[in-house]
Amino acid sequence: MTEQHVYPVREDIAANAWADKEKYLAMYQQSVDDPEGFWAEQAKRIDWFKSPTRIKHTSFDPHDVDIRWFEDGTLNASVNCLDRHLATRGDQTAIIWEGDDPNDAKHLTYREVYERTNQLANALKALGVRKGDVVTLYMPMIPEAAMAMLACARIGAVHSVVFGGFSPDALAQRVIGADSKLVITADESVRGGKQVPLKDNVDAALTRAGAEVCEKVLVVKRTGGDIDWHEGRDVWFHEAVDDQSTECAAEEMNAEDPLFILYTSGSTGAPKGLKHTTGGYLTYASLTHQYVFDYQDGEVYWCTADVGWVTGHSYIVYGPLANGAITLMFEGVPSYPTHGRMGEIVDKHKVNILYTAPTAVRALMAHGDHVMDSSKRDSLRLLGSVGEPINPEAWEWFYRVIGNSRCPIVDTWWQTETGGIMISPLPGAIDLKPGSATRPFFGVQPVLLDSEGQVLEGAVDGNLAIADSWPGQARSIWGDHERFVQTYFSTYKGYYFTGDGCRRDEDGYYWITGRVDDVLNVSGHRMGTAEIESSLVAHETVAEAAVVGFPHDIKGQGIYIYVTLADGVEATEELKKELAQWVRKDIGPIATPDVIQWAPGLPKTRSGKIMRRILRKIAANECDGLGDTSTLADPSVVDELIEHRANR
Ligand code: WT7
Repeated sequence: MTEQHVYPVREDIAANAWADKEKYLAMYQQSVDDPEGFWAEQAKRIDWFKSPTRIKHTSFDPHDVDIRWFEDGTLNASVNCLDRHLATRGDQTAIIWEGDDPNDAKHLTYREVYERTNQLANALKALGVRKGDVVTLYMPMIPEAAMAMLACARIGAVHSVVFGGFSPDALAQRVIGADSKLVITADESVRGGKQVPLKDNVDAALTRAGAEVCEKVLVVKRTGGDIDWHEGRDVWFHEAVDDQSTECAAEEMNAEDPLFILYTSGSTGAPKGLKHTTGGYLTYASLTHQYVFDYQDGEVYWCTADVGWVTGHSYIVYGPLANGAITLMFEGVPSYPTHGRMGEIVDKHKVNILYTAPTAVRALMAHGDHVMDSSKRDSLRLLGSVGEPINPEAWEWFYRVIGNSRCPIVDTWWQTETGGIMISPLPGAIDLKPGSATRPFFGVQPVLLDSEGQVLEGAVDGNLAIADSWPGQARSIWGDHERFVQTYFSTYKGYYFTGDGCRRDEDGYYWITGRVDDVLNVSGHRMGTAEIESSLVAHETVAEAAVVGFPHDIKGQGIYIYVTLADGVEATEELKKELAQWVRKDIGPIATPDVIQWAPGLPKTRSGKIMRRILRKIAANECDGLGDTSTLADPSVVDELIEHRANR
């Protein structure tokens, strides 16, 4: 292995950080030796109506998976994100909003967000939303999205945010799955100067879902664009909200009452709605936000994710606002109007902490260093990365060019299921190695296992699992606890299995190597190969399809599709384009295939199982090391696929 460049902790950062080396080690040790004591102490960062006395009640036993934290405590998440800051920072900015158009920006104080959120909470009640109801959000990156989440939390409704780039079908599936009473959307969103017809998509989704599913649609007027109006169902946001009282009593929620559902893709079946609850999630989001980003009072913090992903939930909304931070929300895309936009936003709003994705870094890097010439980025103190492994080259470029060789990078590994950051450097405590997520956060006990379930010690490669619960962990899959148990707790008895492969080095640092299951990570977006395959076989020309990932310079992974056509269908370039469009329309632009290869046959075992291992190798153009193909029913199909492979 090549010698790794190590970036030692900067002394100026350690001097003022929430944790230096000693403190990290001491806190980590306590968190695993005495989880009850540790988390009882950490829970004090939250304002409880009734403080918890029962701290941890968790079992990973597959016969009885049961995860409860702070179970006799009561609280309200919106009170923690808003009310409790009014006395000390009511006039401080809570949200800086930067529009898609570089001339569009606004600052909202904690008091303004509080009042508008309360008005919205009252409006939701007036529309019939009750504690426990599910509200779906399909929204642009505008402050109303954050306020809608908090307004749901305030009245005890469960939000389910669906990324605004998903198709009407994907939205319908999620509205039905959650049995959602109300959808909050906007007429259109604006990204990169283009309008996205959110309301039209909601109309199409609800037509598909059937009228009985969703009673009301609350519509923010973002652009004033042309939309259809369904009398009796559709309600303008401003009409419902403007005249409401700015006070709405917060519902007293149990720590284990659900706060939100968030859908994510797995290796099989339809997307799963992960259920996150209130007390543990909020404690964990807020604690990780403070320590991992070493957030200091008054700093401007920018996470470039969309609120449609868990990163947006924990690190645009709940973590930062619970901590009284200034959180920046960006409506647009980093390449519009020019590739310098990200740096320009940093300068404009004096951003101190920038949390983004490797794919965004690689896209900039591809344009060369001068792409950052339009900004100085002197305000930056810390950088963060999330969503996929960051390759050392991209890490170094991020450090040198974006961060002017001054800012530590926290490479944060976590998942929708984990609720918050699990493995990451703390900038004042942990020396950095480019490409490594480094060390576990407080309370997190990573374990590497081989495929037989043996725990591996020392410097080694294995499957990443977690040995004990942490407060931010998802509690279940909405409406399907059995699937939750099957997916995460049945592979390795007594452990939570992450689906990721990982290496631990001689210093105990963790290096995530990527998914070991049939889940793709395309530009940091998680996608199930099974979802894309079922979309394809729904097309009349397709007899069979197999989807794999392949290494892609900018996206990390690209989508490579093998299609076997139905008898008599002609294999044309037009048909390839049509199939690519079909998937794009069915799932959303993020699922657009990169490569389609015709496959007269697919490599299958004699029992009919597709050997994806071989398909992945061919897609990666690694045809020499195909391994054992003797168990194939018809080995000759492999030669045919190699001969016509698309990526050489
Ligand atoms: C999967 C989870 C966590 C919020 C965004 C994605 C991959 C995530 C890293 C990282 C290497 C990473 C893993 C994980 N992943 N962060 N820093 N280094 N891989 O959440 O959509 O639930 O995806 O993203 O493969 O399992 P998600």
